[in-house]
Amino acid sequence: MKSQLSQPRREAYLKDLETLLRIPSVSTDPRWRGEIQNGAEETARQMRQAGFQTVEIFSTAGHPIVLGEYFVSADLPTVLVYGHYDVQPEDPIELWESPPFEPTLRDGKLYARGATDDKGQFLCHVKAVQTLLEDEGTLPINLKVLIEGEEEVGSGSLAPFLLEHKERLKADILVISDTAMYGPDQPSLIYGLRGLTYHQIELRGAASDLHSGYFGGAVPNPADALTKILGSLRDAQGRVTIPGFYDKVREMSPSEREAYAALGFQNEHLAKAVGAPSLTPEEGYSGLESRTARPTVEINGLLAGYTGPGAKTVLPATAMAKLSCRIVPDQEPEEISRLLEAHIRAICPPSVTCEVTHMQASPAWLTSTDNPAIQAASKAIRRLYEKDPVFVREGGSIPIVLNFQEILGLPAVLMGLGQSDENLHAPNEFFRVENFYAGIDLVIELYRALAEG
Ligand code: BES
Ligand code: MN
Ligand code: MN
Repeated sequence: MKSQLSQPRREAYLKDLETLLRIPSVSTDPRWRGEIQNGAEETARQMRQAGFQTVEIFSTAGHPIVLGEYFVSADLPTVLVYGHYDVQPEDPIELWESPPFEPTLRDGKLYARGATDDKGQFLCHVKAVQTLLEDEGTLPINLKVLIEGEEEVGSGSLAPFLLEHKERLKADILVISDTAMYGPDQPSLIYGLRGLTYHQIELRGAASDLHSGYFGGAVPNPADALTKILGSLRDAQGRVTIPGFYDKVREMSPSEREAYAALGFQNEHLAKAVGAPSLTPEEGYSGLESRTARPTVEINGLLAGYTGPGAKTVLPATAMAKLSCRIVPDQEPEEISRLLEAHIRAICPPSVTCEVTHMQASPAWLTSTDNPAIQAASKAIRRLYEKDPVFVREGGSIPIVLNFQEILGLPAVLMGLGQSDENLHAPNEFFRVENFYAGIDLVIELYRALAEG
């Protein structure tokens, strides 16, 4: 799909995206608090420029929330768009080919932290509004666009905000563009997301690092204990070995598995795309099923002992790991966290102390594809791409989808505008400029289709 946008418009819109990407609005690190504020203000400025009737920045206990509104008529459906202006930290900085907060164009790709997750994608909505208002003077729907600054750290302030502003946020449909398309020129609609639990484990042996020759063999090594724990999380068949982990897992239905099989996904293609020698799917499931619809446990970070250049004979006093579980319906996040902690404590030798911190717990989300909002989105995709969307679940998590559903009663349309190879959360994140423009066209078409009902 090539975009319909005129060349001058493309250039102006790209400049605005670059301006947004120049702001290091990293939400995890308190050092960047001022930049988070700048991220919110630039988002608001661009909404005002697009022509929203009201644009407001709300301060919260955490980072600010930006809300833009455009009301046309009580006869039209109201769409609430959700996105996030916060981004992941840039590290490891040395692996970036151009600085993460200096957006750089190479081969039609705009490189910058946040390019695809999620600044480039939510800006497609803002630019769709700008285009429609400039060309037609109105929108086909009533619109509320809510862009938050804490998505990458668990959206702590969002649920209270939804509760507090329930009336004002009233809508008929939730739309999120914060996932990827299935492939180039193949949009997808996401009907499921995995949930997430996140944990930090800290083991301690001796009171301080020690000479490994003088003390090794007699004094406990927390790094050794940690490897035993970590080695006990999955078996050779890719099954999670935490007792009770699968007890509440709802199996994919035979028809869902057939639909997955019909997509013709090849494990080898994914292995090649990510540059790995081969995949590690759960036995009995494809790589696509394992990645999106099966639960897993992953080691996200590890720290122990000497990791600098050369050799240092040291017996570390501490060892640390960050672990997350991706969970599926009907696993309960708190229960999974408890089971994981119990398993860790059962394996951890008594010679070291073990501290487990629970940092995040949110459930999975799954919806039916036959709701009218998703059907309208399919229509928009068919009109523009002359083919059906792919219906698939995604492996990542957007914890607030459930809050919107439960607090505001909204059905969600998850229509990604990026591609899965765009290095989100990794060095050299990028957004294809052509997808930025095509995304704007698709959002316009989506608003029109949602207006038709
Ligand atoms: N946009 C992602 C979520 C995503 C990515 C969904 C790819 C589907 C496919 C979002 O910004 C994100 O990174 N979410 C976090 C969760 C959060 C609580 C840290 C995630 O999935 O790790
Ligand atoms: Mn995101
Ligand atoms: Mn993200």
